[in-house]
Amino acid sequence: MKGPCVYVDVCDRKTVEDVVKKYDVDTIYHLAAILSAVGEKNPQLAWKVNVDGLYNVLEVSREYDLRVFWPSSIAVFGPKTPKHNTPQDTILCPTTMYGVTKVAGELLCKYYADKYGLDVRGVRYPGIISSETLPGGGTTDYAVEMFYAAIKREKYVCFVREDTVLPMMYMPDAIDAAIMLMNANSSKLTYRVGYNVSGMSFSAGELASEIKKHVPDFEVEYKPDFRQKIADSWPKTIDDSVARKEWGWKPKWNLENMVKDMLEKLKRKLLSLT
Ligand code: SER
Repeated sequence: MKGPCVYVDVCDRKTVEDVVKKYDVDTIYHLAAILSAVGEKNPQLAWKVNVDGLYNVLEVSREYDLRVFWPSSIAVFGPKTPKHNTPQDTILCPTTMYGVTKVAGELLCKYYADKYGLDVRGVRYPGIISSETLPGGGTTDYAVEMFYAAIKREKYVCFVREDTVLPMMYMPDAIDAAIMLMNANSSKLTYRVGYNVSGMSFSAGELASEIKKHVPDFEVEYKPDFRQKIADSWPKTIDDSVARKEWGWKPKWNLENMVKDMLEKLKRKLLSLT
């Protein structure tokens, strides 16, 4: 499906409003954000883009009666949150600016839903693995970078420990989650934003081993940097039973079929570039 493509600056409310008016927009999928690792390098920018940007989108949506999808993240959790099967309702005490902006964002969205009846919905995405876009400054980027290194027959230097386990999701599931939630019967939604959604959980070492089944000479060296501390503050597995119950969430992809599909897609993509 094709449509017009225009750039807007979420920090500049007028550019958002102009596009909404010009194209008669009825729904915004607001995905613009500064992720965790870049956010730690520039916390001020992370706040501006993630919170002020969301505020502008919510304000324009309130005024023009739009629907909004806004993703939160597993980064809302922190060191005090239970790490295994993290519940929907739990301690939200993140230690990254990215996490702080996502907790603030969840509260802001809930406020607009309660106060103005705005139809804003969202999930807490885990690390997203995509064959289309390169990772953009998150702590979970290694899970995508590994594939590129394997296909280019390069050794990968991984910035988290081999035993680091984080929740992840393959992009087709991430898109399905957004569409399913936006299509869900509103009367069934008791949370609206910040639904836990689980895809798969694996360690960096398990991912490397799965890739090695297809690329046997693939080599990984583990050299943790500042992102290890961020990874250690996040859960390992997520309880998404509320999303399953309220809007029928169920992931289709696991580690094995995701790795196979990623390698096939990226091989095709890199071949077409050479
Ligand atoms: N992928 C994100 C990050 O690593 C988590 O939401 O920052």
